[in-house]
Amino acid sequence: MRERVSNGTIFGYESVDAGPLAEHMCKRFHVDRLKFSMSGLDATLFSVRLARAVTGRRRIMKFEGCYHGSHDALMVSIKPRREASGDPRRPNPVPASKGLLKELVDTAVVAPFNDLASTEAIATEHADDIAGIILEPVPMNMGYVHPEPGFLEGLRALADRIGAVLIFDEVKTCGKWYGGAEEAFGVAPDVKVLGKAIGGGFPLAAVGGKASIMDQVVPGQIAHAGTFNANPLSVSAGLVTLTKILTKAGVQHAQRMGTSLAKGYIDIVRDHRLAVKVQYGGISGTVHFTRAAVTDWRSFQDVDVGRWWGYFTAMLNRGIIPMATGPDEQWTTSVAHTKADIDAHLDAFEDVAEILKHAQAEMALVEAV
Ligand SMILES: Cc1ncc(COP(=O)(O)O)c(C=O)c1O
Repeated sequence: MRERVSNGTIFGYESVDAGPLAEHMCKRFHVDRLKFSMSGLDATLFSVRLARAVTGRRRIMKFEGCYHGSHDALMVSIKPRREASGDPRRPNPVPASKGLLKELVDTAVVAPFNDLASTEAIATEHADDIAGIILEPVPMNMGYVHPEPGFLEGLRALADRIGAVLIFDEVKTCGKWYGGAEEAFGVAPDVKVLGKAIGGGFPLAAVGGKASIMDQVVPGQIAHAGTFNANPLSVSAGLVTLTKILTKAGVQHAQRMGTSLAKGYIDIVRDHRLAVKVQYGGISGTVHFTRAAVTDWRSFQDVDVGRWWGYFTAMLNRGIIPMATGPDEQWTTSVAHTKADIDAHLDAFEDVAEILKHAQAEMALVEAV
């Protein structure tokens, strides 16, 4: 990166690494073409514009509890309060910020994650007006949620039936498996949004998809502009990250570390009889402080947030930052983690689990009284 900085950080046209990076990413993430952006926000924004442009329709279907960046069209039903969210099978669109135009919020069609029958029923009502269906294939803004068998396949079939563009927001998942969520689940969307890990700490995102869609992104048809898109610094960081660090072998190592961390958590939770669900996959996972599996936003709301913070703080006190901050986040193992790191993490959790066990027993007594 020092070398890149000394050669210049912005030229206003493609830099030498842009072609090789695009080629690597198209192959790795199974897309025909892609365009570089700067952040997940502007990439998902562009994916929504693409869907509207190629279908000539207005509405975007999104899932309750999924986050797609801080832009207006998708700032809907991200973490809605129970009182505002209505029927779980037919969630209300709830604005996630002040300052959003009601007309825009109303273009969002909100569906419950992992409930295919309800999603199909809602989509059918707006079938002629849904431009795109966007989702995190593995929601990671409500901890870690597995798509249930058949859910992603069902959405693929639904998008085909109503003529909508299926968009996977892989801003998080593209870095969790070598080839992203398609590699893990075998379902191919029309458009993928990639971000976060691919830039190795520099601002880089991308929107990729089928040639039939991406080839319409030309001046005068579908606009995609940005001064810093494909800037040399981010592009070089992306090329080094994806070809030298997050290689297949590197990701496999991180996955082995992630799996042994998760299995260690599962053993400790079982031994201490904690009311905790460990949900994991790829290189990420989390501990949900709840008795039933978290499958969507409504079940995430049953998570005991206070107990999660107790766990997090107790881990910090033992010198371990166990994951990103908040029960809606998750851990991610990296190419740099070693077995010694995993052992140290699990030793700390063993200790913390003992405290949690006593706290749980005391709470049970209080509840019994
Ligand atoms: C799934 C998902 N999509 C989009 C975004 C937005 O990305 P950015 O923060 O780079 O704008 C995020 C950020 O956390 C995300 O988790």
